Amino acid sequence: MANIAKIFASRTQSMLQAAARQPQVATRFSRSASTASNWEFIKTDITGEKKNVAVITLNRPKALNALCNGLMKEISIALKQFGKDKNIAAIVLTGSEKAFAAGADIKEMLPNTYSQCIQGNFLNDWVEVARTQKPIIAAVNGYALGGGCELAMMCDIIYAGDKAKFGQPEIALGTIPGAGGTQRLTRVVGKSKAMEMCLTGNMISAQEAEKLGLASKVVPADQLLAEAIKLAEKIGTHSSLIVQLCKESVNTAYETTLQEGLKFERRTFHATFSTADRKEGMTAFAEKRPANFTNE
Ligand code: CAA
Repeated sequence: MANIAKIFASRTQSMLQAAARQPQVATRFSRSASTASNWEFIKTDITGEKKNVAVITLNRPKALNALCNGLMKEISIALKQFGKDKNIAAIVLTGSEKAFAAGADIKEMLPNTYSQCIQGNFLNDWVEVARTQKPIIAAVNGYALGGGCELAMMCDIIYAGDKAKFGQPEIALGTIPGAGGTQRLTRVVGKSKAMEMCLTGNMISAQEAEKLGLASKVVPADQLLAEAIKLAEKIGTHSSLIVQLCKESVNTAYETTLQEGLKFERRTFHATFSTADRKEGMTAFAEKRPANFTNE
């Protein structure tokens, strides 16, 4: 109990402080994110009716968006920039129609040695995706294999195109998933299915992924990005401060026992009563008008 209270207090304090700091850094980062045309492996765009949705597109088509170090570094930089941009409500991460990402770059990592992996902290650049405070939606068309499936699972919501394929084929390469395939996948689909996928390397379809709860929606491939952006825009109609607290609370379900998670949720719920947006949201409901959130 004491522990969870401590975690809660420090997390909430740092979230509220981060939110309060946003306006000072926003202008600088929104400019650099929207004009960053010198990416080598990704494309970035700001879209949506209110221009509050960031889209990061993996752009390494010849290698089926294999996740080389450079690509993951660029994703990390883009996420940090959009994370600090107060005008961005949510982020969509997507690939091409053929591949979201076919995994870590096998050719690049082929010569790696054990000591290089340890000393270079291999895959550490990937953690930024799961660390991002704003909601990230993975819009997955085509292959999401190995690190590609893991990357999608680091996001908060997965929408899949109807021809998407998910899999953890590392076993066929003489290795195992290294960025969450044995951990996040197991929590989502359960032990038997995760074992089957990780031990055989077999892929599952978009429809099966939806049935298992890995993807929350399957849509025709050519409508996927538009649907993901629509979802991001819907999230963007709410208070970004409360969205951040809500994301943190859902994520806590994966990190703690039920009792600790419930306690964390309750305290976070209580904390919303210290915000202007909670008051505005409930007042707007009572006055039968749309809420005007100020993210405070
Ligand atoms: N790394 C590097 N290059 C890759 C790649 C990868 N993961 N996946 C595909 N490519 C390259 C291919 O080498 C090929 O390049 P060339 O044209 O230069 O030969 C190009 O992308 C097109 O690929 P294919 O010709 O193989 O395309 P295909 O349509 O016949 O097959 C595929 C598609 C089934 C996805 C097949 O490419 C494939 O099996 N890729 C590897 C999938 C995989 O094993 N992923 C796991 C990687 S390990 C990992 O991710 C570890 C971790 O947990 C972090």
